[in-house]
Formats: sequence, structure tokens, C-alpha cells
Amino acid sequence: MRTLFKNIGQLVQVRESSSAIIRGSMMSDLPVIEDAYLLVEDDLIAEYGAMTTWDSRTVNETIDVQGRLLMPTFVDSHTHMVFAANREEEFVMKIKGMDYQSIAKAGGGILNSAKKLQNASIDELYEGAASRLSNAIRHGTGAIEIKSGYGLTTEAELKMLQVIARLKDSFDIPIKATFLGAHAFPDENKEKYITSIIQEMLPEIYSTGLADYVDTFCEVGYYTPEQMEEVLVAADKYELRPKVHVNQFNSIGGIEVAISNNALSVDHLEVLTEEEINLLKDSDTIPVALPGCSFFINIPFSPARKIIENGLPLVLASDFNPGSAPSFNMSLINSLACIKMRLLPEEAINATTYNAAFALELENEVGSITKGKKANFIISKEPITPATIAYNFGVDWIGTVFINGGEFG
Ligand code: NIG
Ligand code: FE
Repeated sequence: MRTLFKNIGQLVQVRESSSAIIRGSMMSDLPVIEDAYLLVEDDLIAEYGAMTTWDSRTVNETIDVQGRLLMPTFVDSHTHMVFAANREEEFVMKIKGMDYQSIAKAGGGILNSAKKLQNASIDELYEGAASRLSNAIRHGTGAIEIKSGYGLTTEAELKMLQVIARLKDSFDIPIKATFLGAHAFPDENKEKYITSIIQEMLPEIYSTGLADYVDTFCEVGYYTPEQMEEVLVAADKYELRPKVHVNQFNSIGGIEVAISNNALSVDHLEVLTEEEINLLKDSDTIPVALPGCSFFINIPFSPARKIIENGLPLVLASDFNPGSAPSFNMSLINSLACIKMRLLPEEAINATTYNAAFALELENEVGSITKGKKANFIISKEPITPATIAYNFGVDWIGTVFINGGEFG
């Protein structure tokens, strides 16, 4: 089956190959072909080029894009999409003046989500997550990472990972599962809980193949760098590479531990020292910023300009979760990055598509318009330029989402 998409006004993020993540000043380079065509063969991108070079060969179907924009779907490399309930009551507490940490101490936060999740059935959790995931795809996400971490018992953590496995089976987009047992402590007996992660959860996860990565929340009041190290070293024995929460409120040494344990990415980075930037420069660990979280809980935005100006690569993700970032809208993430972090629209698109694929080791499958990659892309409603996506903040610009060459929804 060959489908031709013709008269594309702007064919965005066209790359010959995905050999390396984009860093530093190269992040402002977004390759675009104007007045272009795209040929899809079955579920893959087969060919592309300027309309003037199209050789008029026979195809099964032709779609006239009528001057609109076509770009790869977003890659959302950090979400907590499986949860039992929203936390609107905490939203109101926040409006009235309480901060994230005080809300957690007052019975909200991760422990609030864990209590509700422990009582929810696997079917209920699946239904909720599947409906959110469909909605996220309609908002342009075509590959995603989903974490556990609201279980905090062996049974409930495994239940979350089983829900993610079911999502992998029923959705035709790449999904990566991350085990975040070390998200919080269920009670005062911290060593006992860490022992259950190491002796019960990790072996079970390994034998069932339920996770692709391991995560820990390294923060004051949560996991110390030493506790994080203990979990990461144990997870390494079960072949789980770290993608971790660090430096959301405080710099306490998590980045150093992440790098020395070969982390694929370090996520949050609202607080980032010169020293830590230098450590990242000497490593392959990818910095991931989460502007939706900064916006929603009113904390500083990650110094993304500084990250890029130091020659590092940058990835942006939604952090979608019921407590600190209840939105999976990656277009809005582009707006926040441009408006609050002073990223150029081109940098934001690179950070949410091409580079983001590297943060999930999916760079050979998604993230750009490249021959052989999945035909996962978005066509705009109107003829627009790439900058419009961030500029018209909160405005729905998405006309159609294609997944594996077919219209989604
Ligand atoms: O990435 N910071 C840690 N975890 C989540 C928030 C979890 C929650 O509040 O439920 C985050 O922001
Ligand atoms: Fe998170």
C-alpha cells in the first residue's frame, strides 16, 4: 500500500538519518522542505522531497495536504499516565497558597495517589490510562514513556506495570515502561521498603519483562543520593537503565549518581549548578526539562538556555501526572519552553521530537521524517509555519494525526 501526501506547505523535521542527538547551537536548525511530498509505504516513511521532484509514479492513494504543515508526532519521554484519580483538591489548596511540599505533608502528593491506586482494580486503571493515552495521541503524541510509582507496594507496583503492558498491547505506538518504585516511601521504615524494591520487585520485574527502565525520585524528603544509588546498582543487575527524577527543588548529588550509573536521562533540572552542567558535558546522559511542572506548581523553570549554550543536547517532556503536571499537551510544552525558557521554536520542536526519541532509545523508529521510520505524523488544520505551534499557545492547531500511516481516531 503506497500513499502519497502531496502539496505539503511545510514538511518539518526532515532528516536523512538519526545518527546522533542534536546539541548546542545545532538545536536551532530545523530542516524544512517547502512545497513537498511524502510517500508512505504501509506503515513506514518511504520517500520525501520537493513537489517539483515527484516522478508521478502510480500510488494506491493520494492525499492533497493543500499547503498545510506536516511534522513528525511528538515523543513524550516522561509521563505518569497510570493513576487512579485526579487531585483537583490539591489544585485548590495550591491556589489558596500552599506549596507542593506542604500539600504532600498535609496528606496530598504521591502518597495520596498511592492510596487510591492500591484500591483500584487493574481494569479501572487500564480504562483510565487508555482514555488518557488516546487523548494524548489526538494531541499529537506518537511515542511515549509511562512510569509506575503510585503503587509503593510490590503488588501495586506490579499492577501498574501490568497496566502499562496492556497499553503496549493495545496501542500501536511505541511505549516504554519505567519502574519508579523509588518514588516515595510508603511509611517510616525506609530501609524495609528499599529492601522490598531490591528483593521482591526487581526480580519479579526482571522475570516478567515488565519494565524497560528504572527511575528514582532523588530529592530532600524523598530518596537521598545514597538510597538512589542502592536502587540503581540493584536495578543494573536486572538490566534496567536509569532515567531519573533529579534536581526538582534541590541539588543534592543526584546528577552525579545518575551519571556514574550510566543513566540514559536526568529529568526535571529546575535547579542546576555550573558543576552539574560540566558533569553532564562529560557524559552521555541526556538532560530532560519538564516545563509543564514548573508552570503548574509555580517553581523555577530549568535553565534550558544555559544547557544549550553549554553545547549540551536538550529534551522536553510533559511529566504528565495528577499532582504536578496534569497536561499531556506537547504543543503547550513547546509554548512554555519558548515563552518561559526562551527557547527558539526550532529548538523546542527538536527537543520534543528528534532529540526526545533518543531519550527513549527510539531514534531509529520515530522523531523525524526519515526513510524507514514509522509513518507517525501530524497534519495541521491550516497552512502554518513551525513557529505557530508555540506562538498560538493553547490553541488546537492539529488537523489529523497519522499513526503507522493510518488516520488515528
Ligand atoms: O515528576 N517529582 C516527582 N514526581 C512527579 C510528581 C508526582 C506527584 O506529585 O504525583 C513529578 O513531578
Ligand atoms: Fe515525573
